[in-house]
Amino acid sequence: MPAEPGTVLEISAPDDWHVHLRDGEALSAVAPFTARQFRRAIVMPNLRPPIQTVGEAEAYRKRILEACGDAAFAPLMTLYLTETTEPEEVDRAAASEFVAGIKLYPAGATTNSEAGVHSLSGLYRVFERMEERDLVLEVHGEVTDRQADVFDRERLFLERELAPLVERFQRLRVVFEHVTTREAVDFVRETKGRVGATITPQHLLLNRNALFAGGIRPHNYCLPVLKREEHRRALVDAATSGHSRFFLGTDSAPHSRSSKETACGCAGVFSAPLALELYAEVFDNEDRLDQFEAFASTNGPAFYGLPKNTDRVRLCKQPRAVPTEYDFGSETIVPFRAGEQVSWVLLA
Ligand code: NCD
Ligand code: ZN
Repeated sequence: MPAEPGTVLEISAPDDWHVHLRDGEALSAVAPFTARQFRRAIVMPNLRPPIQTVGEAEAYRKRILEACGDAAFAPLMTLYLTETTEPEEVDRAAASEFVAGIKLYPAGATTNSEAGVHSLSGLYRVFERMEERDLVLEVHGEVTDRQADVFDRERLFLERELAPLVERFQRLRVVFEHVTTREAVDFVRETKGRVGATITPQHLLLNRNALFAGGIRPHNYCLPVLKREEHRRALVDAATSGHSRFFLGTDSAPHSRSSKETACGCAGVFSAPLALELYAEVFDNEDRLDQFEAFASTNGPAFYGLPKNTDRVRLCKQPRAVPTEYDFGSETIVPFRAGEQVSWVLLA
């Protein structure tokens, strides 16, 4: 039975283990939402140009902190892996206090991934060094083969690239980012490697019908693309099981309204203003609110080897309307569930 209206849920303060904060005026528009909802966040490096060095990450981190004002928020930075990344950059990253990982984008897989990697085999020296330094590798897991069916790209990446990589580097900590399929969930559960996975709110709440409900729905389009109901079910079971390898990562990926509502719209769902409420809804629907803290606040820091946050937050079950849009610098942005309702609210 879902919780009664007015139910209050208190958990340790949560973190977001995968978010896009962008830069410039977009950064100022979106970062405060993440800083309000989460104490820490793993910030993706896919800017133009990408964040490739510890020095660049340090400067970007300062810009993020400025955009957040005096919120108690700690951005955890990632570096963008390219075919020219050197093992020495891994050393510098591991020695820094604020770089938490290195992100692998297969070249061409998603937004701003052109500078990413064509073949993993040229990077074995880098992976060896990451294993030695125990630095986390975050992976966008989709093949870029244009012949491959878009709904199969995650499974094919798992089979062709990720499983062999994990087999070869058994001590490497890997986050299989934004998993969307049953196959990915099963792999994360069963592998002997040190693999965790983030799961987004949209992949827990929607299946691929939501892309075409009454007409094409650009604001539900992200990468990896939404999958069939059977896959959504597997994700919900994994997230709400409390299993320590699954944790919260919104993949909130803001794009302006005009770059979504167009003939060739960008991939990315903007969930930052109400992410925690959306996740609470998933756990409530499953009658698993008792596992919400594990997913939102415990499993992520444990995987990254960081302490759990000591303060607590409260959510109340109380429907509220989701705004139809927010300011986004000189443009506007449409959030997930725009104009509809969400059934929980994060209390101040
Ligand atoms: C992300 C973005 O816009 O940066 N888009 C998305 O659909 N998730 C990139 C990514 O994480 O794939
Ligand atoms: Zn992402």
